[in-house]
Amino acid sequence: MILCGRFFHSCHNEAMANTPSIPAFLYGTAWKEDRTASLTELAIVAGFRAVDTANQRRHYFEAGVGQGLTRAYEAGIVTREDLFLQTKFTYARGQDHRLPYDPAAKLDVQVGQSLASSLEHLGTDHVDSFVLHGPSSNYDWTDADAEVWEAMQRERDAGRTRLLGVSNISLDQLQQMADTHEEIPAFVQNRCFASMGWDRDVRRFCKECGIVYQGFSLLTANQEVTNHPPLMKIAEEMSVTMAQLIFAFARAIGILPLTGTSEAEHMKQDLDSLKLDLPPRLVEGIESIAG
Ligand SMILES: NC(=O)c1ccc[n+]([C@@H]2O[C@H](COP(=O)([O-])OP(=O)(O)OC[C@H]3O[C@@H](n4cnc5c(N)ncnc54)[C@H](OP(=O)(O)O)[C@@H]3O)[C@@H](O)[C@H]2O)c1
Repeated sequence: MILCGRFFHSCHNEAMANTPSIPAFLYGTAWKEDRTASLTELAIVAGFRAVDTANQRRHYFEAGVGQGLTRAYEAGIVTREDLFLQTKFTYARGQDHRLPYDPAAKLDVQVGQSLASSLEHLGTDHVDSFVLHGPSSNYDWTDADAEVWEAMQRERDAGRTRLLGVSNISLDQLQQMADTHEEIPAFVQNRCFASMGWDRDVRRFCKECGIVYQGFSLLTANQEVTNHPPLMKIAEEMSVTMAQLIFAFARAIGILPLTGTSEAEHMKQDLDSLKLDLPPRLVEGIESIAG
């Protein structure tokens, strides 16, 4: 059994207890550069109601996401209240020269400056989820992370985000985090490798602690599964795409999936996968293909 830090008795996650609407699918906006606004708008037109971004200009054009949102509002497709908006705080080591904060400022100040800049980019007074993009070390939950996490909680208490999350985090770091703080995250967002049991240990910890696990790179990190001939045959027999099968599988094992597709047809297919319920034997079979 994996112990959820001091929460292991009840594993009650306060943050999630009173949470309205957690989305079923997240549209990811990384690596879209000058197509960010049009693709964000297209995703909303297609039916996505949750958007993931980051105040990390190196990989995301967050102001472009805001432009796409504005267009969707102006077209009368959605209002801010219809959407779940998620952004991230990224340490300087994960950024290029285009920083959304003063690198000489203390970390808690950087957190506030980053979120203020995100709110400006996204044209809102609050996001729904504010995520630490990754701990400061590859191994431990450090004092720097503790300072940032506490600053993030203050942002939440001030109403600038509804919920908090952490990304790119290992089981060890999550356990250290839970041991250090009163509050655990509402979300974990990790890359999901089938060869690691689709991040099985972290997912188990999240389940025990009432944390919603968001998975990315579900298609791109798992070609041994997406190119697995027997699974390809099953997808064909079910008249679904491999992407639909993987997203439906992800949901079946408790993953809230992200997709960053740039294709309108793929957006539609990905959302249609929400209607797909896989038989337990198929879910077990997919889970065992690579580890
Ligand atoms: N926290 C982090 O550090 C982190 C890191 C990476 C990503 N993310 C988030 O996760 C989001 C998704 O990123 P990802 O790594 O999962 O990769 P992705 O951007 O979703 O890329 C998926 C790839 O699969 C292709 N694809 C083919 N058929 C598809 C289908 N039906 N549906 C979806 N994709 C299909 C896409 O091509 P087409 O465009 O042609 O469909 C694309 O090349 C990002 O935008 C970002 O928001 C977070």
